[in-house]
Amino acid sequence: MSFKTLPKIELHHHLEGAAPPAFVRDMARAKGFDVSGIFDANGAYQYDDFLQFLDVYEAATKPFQTPDDYALLTAIVLGEAAEAGVVYLESFLSPDFCGGRDPGAWREYFHAMWEAALSAEELGITMRGIVTAIRHFGPEAAREVAACARETAGGFVTGFGLAGNENAGKTADFAYAFDMAREAGLRLTAHAGEWAGPTSVRDALEHLGVERIGHGVRAIEDPALVADLAARGTVLEVCPGSNVALGIYPSYADHPIARLRDAGVKVTVSTDDPPFFHTDMTREYEELARAFGWDEADFAALNRVALEAAFCDDDTRVRIA
Ligand code: ADE
Ligand code: ZN
Repeated sequence: MSFKTLPKIELHHHLEGAAPPAFVRDMARAKGFDVSGIFDANGAYQYDDFLQFLDVYEAATKPFQTPDDYALLTAIVLGEAAEAGVVYLESFLSPDFCGGRDPGAWREYFHAMWEAALSAEELGITMRGIVTAIRHFGPEAAREVAACARETAGGFVTGFGLAGNENAGKTADFAYAFDMAREAGLRLTAHAGEWAGPTSVRDALEHLGVERIGHGVRAIEDPALVADLAARGTVLEVCPGSNVALGIYPSYADHPIARLRDAGVKVTVSTDDPPFFHTDMTREYEELARAFGWDEADFAALNRVALEAAFCDDDTRVRIA
């Protein structure tokens, strides 16, 4: 069967990470940037490992220099997600790249992205933003990002997150930024259990007070943690194609998503950075169906979990259900 038209809810997606390579090249040409080093001979993003992936990701953001550039990026990305059947998308937004963590500049980027998102609703897709600090830029930068998030909390921006190199710094050092975001009424998530093991997931829960975990898949290495996640109802934003492309697991069949689900953990499925990993939501469903025999009923159940865990208000939840 084709999964393309099945309505999908996606909770873990990085806006710049979804930029099509051709669009980055066009933007770079228009702005006089040389980005040739980040693409292979076929024009795809190229990197050898996760740290290089982060460098390539950052280099690909450089040509996007104005709120209008980000409005265009948002429109293109939402068009592609809608093509893959996504009806609701939460995307990580980065004040580090939009206005250099200056709250005034950030506000302009925020308005541009929000307007583009509102226009895209005619395609049948609703977007919410999760303002996201980048861990390897450090805790002080994360506080500045939280200040930007606070500036625009409510409506379009509904969450606060932490991405980047999970092995940089101590999780507890980011608690202040998360406290700021919580006080501003934002819902919380953090990348953990992707490049570090179960302790990193425990740290995110304990020190950051998050209700969802980005990835979280390496919790599988600790059965007690798996039981704990199931008991607490913590939602994992699982991105199988990302984990396979970056070499955490050799194939979809080796990925722990099915074991986590079968142990009672609330799992959801997302793409993370679709063109970097040669994926989209349709492909994720197809690969999971192939690897685990999941069918339409399994995906409907996944989407119910995602809908319940979405960082949106109940009116929006009812509208997209
Ligand atoms: N930023 C974009 N993609 C990411 C990933 N998979 N892990 C951490 N930070 C990211
Ligand atoms: Zn991510």
